[in-house]
Amino acid sequence: MSAPLLEVADIEAGYGEALVLRGVSLAASAGELVTIIGPNGAGKSTLLRVVYGLLRPEAGSVRYAGEDVTGVRPEQLTRRGLNYVPQLANVFPTLSVAENLQVGGVSLPRAERRQAVADMYEQFPLLAERRRQRAGTLSGGQRKLLAIARALVTRPKVLFLDEPSAGLSPQAVELVFDQLAAVKRRGIAVVMVEQNARRALALADTGYVLDMGRNAYVGPGRTLLRDPKVAELYLGKSTAASSSTSTSAPSGMSEPT
Ligand SMILES: Nc1ncnc2c1ncn2[C@@H]1O[C@H](COP(=O)(O)OP(=O)(O)O)[C@@H](O)[C@H]1O
Ligand SMILES: [Mg+2]
Repeated sequence: MSAPLLEVADIEAGYGEALVLRGVSLAASAGELVTIIGPNGAGKSTLLRVVYGLLRPEAGSVRYAGEDVTGVRPEQLTRRGLNYVPQLANVFPTLSVAENLQVGGVSLPRAERRQAVADMYEQFPLLAERRRQRAGTLSGGQRKLLAIARALVTRPKVLFLDEPSAGLSPQAVELVFDQLAAVKRRGIAVVMVEQNARRALALADTGYVLDMGRNAYVGPGRTLLRDPKVAELYLGKSTAASSSTSTSAPSGMSEPT
């Protein structure tokens, strides 16, 4: 049995005096899609920040490909095969699609970058058609795809995403989740935090429920979906209403297949 590509063990972390994560563990293998859900303030974003080297943990470890990478800086992690799509500010609105992709691949040698950007146009024809368009003029879904493509330019083996579906229309959510499923099928480990909990768990090989800075539940996504306790405590009635955009949550979009 080979070890997971990413192994996060017993992380404790917080801001100043306030401890937010109180012993969180998580693992992801190549080609696995991992979803992290949990109430607002549970520490989901903080966990991604720790794993991607944006916040140093007080305790615990992050191992990648068998090596300890705890506290390694983000740029360095990106060179080694991890990348991160933050929830906000994940594209440069005044730059074109092409420029955004080039900036995303700035750590690559020039020839390799050109090829990597071309690969992105192949994977995301929608972006190829709009390569000269400013990112700020794209629709929400298109912009999210650009943010994902920007991270994929560096050819990561592990991709972290913080709430990729936040603020998107139901159609755009489908577009983004379909693409993430395709990313996973290419053998990349996808680790995403989501408020759209039902939809995200339905897609997940493994789901984690984070609550009060601890692992509350871990299991196959569909098992968590069917767990009455998880449903009662964390899945609410239908759509995740906790997203910051509280305009008309459409019904039906969270139905598992
Ligand atoms: N930069 C920060 N400084 C201080 N406290 C923060 C900061 N970011 C988040 N927190 C606090 O940490 C806790 C967990 O936040 P977060 O990881 O963003 O939760 P989630 O993503 O699960 O909603 C919250 O209580 C939040 O107020
Ligand atoms: Mg968050």
